[in-house]
Amino acid sequence: MRRVLVGVGVGIGVAGFVLALSTALPTTHVQAAAAAGAGQDSADLKMYTDKVVPIFQANCYRCHGGMNHRGGFVMDTKAGMAKGGHDGSVIVAGHPEQSLLVKLIRHEGPNKDDPMDMPPNKPKISDADIATVEQWVKAGAIMPDDVAK
Ligand code: HEC
Repeated sequence: MRRVLVGVGVGIGVAGFVLALSTALPTTHVQAAAAAGAGQDSADLKMYTDKVVPIFQANCYRCHGGMNHRGGFVMDTKAGMAKGGHDGSVIVAGHPEQSLLVKLIRHEGPNKDDPMDMPPNKPKISDADIATVEQWVKAGAIMPDDVAK
C-alpha cells in the first residue's frame, strides 16, 4: 500500500476537489491531489468511499445520516462522526476494540443489561462488513473533509 503523508494546510476548495476526485478518478490522480495539500491518506480515503460508505449507507444512514440523527449521532460527515453521540466520541482511531461504534455493530455493547445493538432490532451486519469497518478504524478512520453545502 502506498501512503502519502502531507501535513499542509487544507483549504475547503482542495478538500472538495479531492472528494470529487476520489469517487471519479483513478488512484494516481487522487494521490496527486492529496500530495498537493489535502493532507489525507488517499488509500484510506478510497477504502472509506469504496467499501465503508456502502455498508453505512445500507445499514445506518436512515437513522444516522443527513437529517437523521438518532441518538444525537450523524455519521455521514466527518464532523458528525468526530462529535459522536450523546455519550461523545464513538471511534478511537487506530483502535477498533476501543471504539463504541465497532462494539455496537459486533453486538458487544458495553452495557450488558441494556445493549444498544446497531442496527437496532436487526441481525448483525455480515462478518465481512464488520471486518471492513474494523480495518478502516484500525487504519485511522480516515474520512474526506466536509464540503460546505
Ligand atoms: C432504526 C434506526 C437505527 C439504525 C438503522 C442504526 N441506528 Fe445507531 N442508534 C439509533 C438510536 C435510536 C440510537 C440511540 C440509542 C440510545 O441512546 O439508547 C443509536 C445510537 C448509536 C450509537 C451511539 C451514539 C451514542 O454515543 O449514544 C452509535 C455509535 C450508532 N448508533 C451506530 C450505528 C451504526 C454503525 C449503524 C449501522 C450499522 C446504526 N447505528 C444503525 C438508531 C439506529
